[in-house]
Amino acid sequence: MCGIVGYVGSRSATPFLLDGLRRLEYRGYDSAGIAVLDDELRVTRRVGFVAALEGAVPAEAAGTLGIGHTRWATHGGVTEENAHPHTDAEGTIAVVHNGIIENHAAIRARLQEQGAVFRSQTDTEVLPHLIRRLYQGDPVAAVRAALQMVQGTYGIAVVFREHPGLLVAARNGSPLVVGKGNGETFLASDPHALARHTREVVYLDDREIVTITADGWDIQRLDGGHTSRAIEILAEELTDTDLGDFTHHMLKEIHEQPESLRRCLQGRVVPEEGGAKLGGLDLDPRAIARISRVGFLGCGTSFHAGLVGAAALEQLARIPAFAEIASEFRYRNPVIDRDSVFFAVSQSGETADTLGAVREVQLKGGSVMGVVNVVGSSIARTCGRGVYVHSGPEIAVASTKAFTSQVAATLVAALMFARTRTLAQHEGREVGEELLAAPGLVERYLANPGDIQRAVELLVGGRYVFFLGRGTSAAVAMEGALKLKEVAYVPCMSYPAAEMKHGPIALIDAHTPVVAICPDDLMRDKTLSNVQEVRARGARVVMIHTEGDHEAAAMGEVSIAVPKTRSALTHPLLTVLPLQLIAYRAGLALGRDIDRPRNLAKSVTVE
Ligand code: AGP
Repeated sequence: MCGIVGYVGSRSATPFLLDGLRRLEYRGYDSAGIAVLDDELRVTRRVGFVAALEGAVPAEAAGTLGIGHTRWATHGGVTEENAHPHTDAEGTIAVVHNGIIENHAAIRARLQEQGAVFRSQTDTEVLPHLIRRLYQGDPVAAVRAALQMVQGTYGIAVVFREHPGLLVAARNGSPLVVGKGNGETFLASDPHALARHTREVVYLDDREIVTITADGWDIQRLDGGHTSRAIEILAEELTDTDLGDFTHHMLKEIHEQPESLRRCLQGRVVPEEGGAKLGGLDLDPRAIARISRVGFLGCGTSFHAGLVGAAALEQLARIPAFAEIASEFRYRNPVIDRDSVFFAVSQSGETADTLGAVREVQLKGGSVMGVVNVVGSSIARTCGRGVYVHSGPEIAVASTKAFTSQVAATLVAALMFARTRTLAQHEGREVGEELLAAPGLVERYLANPGDIQRAVELLVGGRYVFFLGRGTSAAVAMEGALKLKEVAYVPCMSYPAAEMKHGPIALIDAHTPVVAICPDDLMRDKTLSNVQEVRARGARVVMIHTEGDHEAAAMGEVSIAVPKTRSALTHPLLTVLPLQLIAYRAGLALGRDIDRPRNLAKSVTVE
């Protein structure tokens, strides 16, 4: 989604701003702009990619202070006028903003009554006008006063023509990170933009405002008082975002899964003890024994990982568990008892709905832990404890390696809880060995993935595609359908296989291909019966099955085998792989922009 960068130092700001915006491209955006200050504020904005902006920045934009932005449209269409930065009427204050100003209409009306002329349809444009009106020589006071009148979420950066060495930034619900350079200071909404220039950073907390100069920064609370913050060191892996020999980040990330899974499992599963250790959860055996219920909260792919986690936890540890879409959970006034434990599952750690759900749990006195990939992200910091899944940077909008690592992390948690409550040492050892074997099996499958191309040909020729599965394979079916929709824009639906006959089967005919996820678990025979039902109505079937299961293979017009495992626990780590590859190849076949699908953003920081 929207991205912010800022620079103050002794070099020309433009190269950093453009490089930073390029590094934020993966988040998804539709227009970009920068404002650079020398003797005047020079604003350049363009619809489309940062490359278009780069070509448009005039040579005179060589000042040593500037801000930049990639916009993902919320208020107003994708136009140059709506792109950021926005300025006041005289062009003396420039603002970039992530988030949503909810009371912008009322503020706009009031400002218009006072004579302000607006040039965009955005909620953001109220900010430069408001700050200008409140400015009486002190830039921080003016920004602070403006933000006190604003409702909603924001990460903002502000430049004043009157203050050539100063950047003012503030955060409420939309992340900002400040980076320390040598005689220069950087600002960004995402540490990816900084990783090339510095590894020493501080993250702003909500309701904080910071003044940034070439020599450092000063953080204050928006409601008054200074705060100090220790410098954190960015993880080295943040710099590892090159494509290497791959044509797309999505394909690269699919193939990174053996390694990302190893990173997630290593040192956490302890087969000799038949258990697992997740120190970041900060739960001792007594606390685990007291847990009455476990909830997994997340959105999109992360919600699907939570569904698998909940099933595994209930099965292994015999603790009632459920997964819920975070945007629903946060507004339904959920009952949260003291002994419940929640996991907030999120790759980016910045998803607004998941963060909202975390706050709801905390507000009601519950315990919530992150299952997060991005270190230092808002969800990780707000939860204060949890599990980092260590997938490494995930750049493609379509989440792949984060899903398998999230599933793996929840399986480790399930083993840890189960060893305390239900499992004997030898049983725990088997589960642990099974988990540790999974990366090797993923590697083996990816080396020989089966006839993905034929599956793609069968699926993209259909009117829409059904994904069917039972148990954890129903969650994998949801994930497969989501991938095919977002990467290839192929209409699809997913259903627990048996639910089909309660309505959706009316849609089935020879033009509605079905992908059946049918590994050799307890539900296999039942799923095969449901596959017979759709075949009887003419559906052409792509069958995802366990290697050696010839009966299941024979039911598919195209059949793709995944390696056999000893228990069903790790099936989702394998059955999801062909679905990721199908979505990727279908996207290619249909000429889609694989890593940056239309209308989507990598991290969804608005509600
Ligand atoms: C996955 O392919 C999607 N792009 C999307 O559903 C994503 O999983 C969702 O927005 C949640 O993001 P998060 O994991 O960063 O919280």
